[in-house]
Amino acid sequence: MKILVTGGAGFIGSHIVEHFQGKAEIVILDNFRSGKKQNLKNFDHKLIEGSILDRKAVKEAVKGVDYIFHMAAGISVVESMEKPVEYVQVNTEGTLIVLEEAAAAGVKKLCFSTSAACYGENPESPKVETMKPDPLSPYAITKLDGEYYCDMFAREGKLKTACLRYFNVFGPRQDPKSAYAAAIPIFVSRAVANSTISIYGDGEQTRDFIYVKDVVAANVFMSQNDHTGLFNVAYGKKITINDLVKMVIKMTNSMSRIEYKPERPGEIKHSLASIGKLLSTGFKPTSDFSEGMKKTVDYFMGNK
Ligand SMILES: NC(=O)c1ccc[n+]([C@@H]2O[C@H](COP(=O)([O-])OP(=O)(O)OC[C@H]3O[C@@H](n4cnc5c(N)ncnc54)[C@H](O)[C@@H]3O)[C@@H](O)[C@H]2O)c1
Repeated sequence: MKILVTGGAGFIGSHIVEHFQGKAEIVILDNFRSGKKQNLKNFDHKLIEGSILDRKAVKEAVKGVDYIFHMAAGISVVESMEKPVEYVQVNTEGTLIVLEEAAAAGVKKLCFSTSAACYGENPESPKVETMKPDPLSPYAITKLDGEYYCDMFAREGKLKTACLRYFNVFGPRQDPKSAYAAAIPIFVSRAVANSTISIYGDGEQTRDFIYVKDVVAANVFMSQNDHTGLFNVAYGKKITINDLVKMVIKMTNSMSRIEYKPERPGEIKHSLASIGKLLSTGFKPTSDFSEGMKKTVDYFMGNK
């Protein structure tokens, strides 16, 4: 078996690469926009350093590949507001190029990483795949574009695709230092360093966090079956940011102080997934939130 991971040097991509060690020939296409060579240092793979916008590089990357995990993207809502054209290029055009070349190369299936950001501020909870999308940023709009193109290729019989709408993913190797870092790596790395932890708003906002190993498992599962279409990928459980920070402080025996800052504009108050459709495929997550948190804390303790 041969697989291609676009964005394989990134956080989630590197866990896909880790999963397939010894199980498949692995090709990575990454231009290191946000990914790191260090994420791949222990893993066998063939690296093509280039962009998904470079058709020649994509053509080379898809050669003889059975399954594609398409993760390469601009990944930040905030950055996308500053650079909308770049997001359209990388996320929409880039995805289209990967789809075209995958179809031409006879790839068996492509799994596309998309985002709960597509639901936007629709207050309905939990979020169900049949809801009308309400994308509020170029990031969300371009992820939605990718979903529609994946669907179009599947409908036209050109390429089997599945779109996996992740909620909040966390785990080892998630970058706490980027300007657009996610909550868990920031909280854990600051707790380990006994630094002050900032919470925006009253901390009662809720999120549906999923451990990266289950995101990998969902991708692997979807690549190997005939399901097409859109699937929420989450645990369908919510935790408040206040409870999350308390948990992190306890797990790390931290002396960190908590400070409350004004709510950030545009931040969604509650995000919770309905995972009925995902579970109806027969997929079952094998880890859980606490196990994931333990592994994540161990990772950041080891890297302090
Ligand atoms: N982390 C989350 O909570 C989350 C939630 C929803 C969706 N997603 C999606 O999952 C995917 C992976 O996200 P991640 O958290 O691992 O982010 P990441 O930034 O760690 O990984 C993205 C990777 O794509 C690469 N990349 C960017 N532009 C590229 C280009 N033009 N050509 C080739 N490679 C390029 C980056 O260098 C990086 O290695 C993304 O598509 C993201 O939108 C992530």
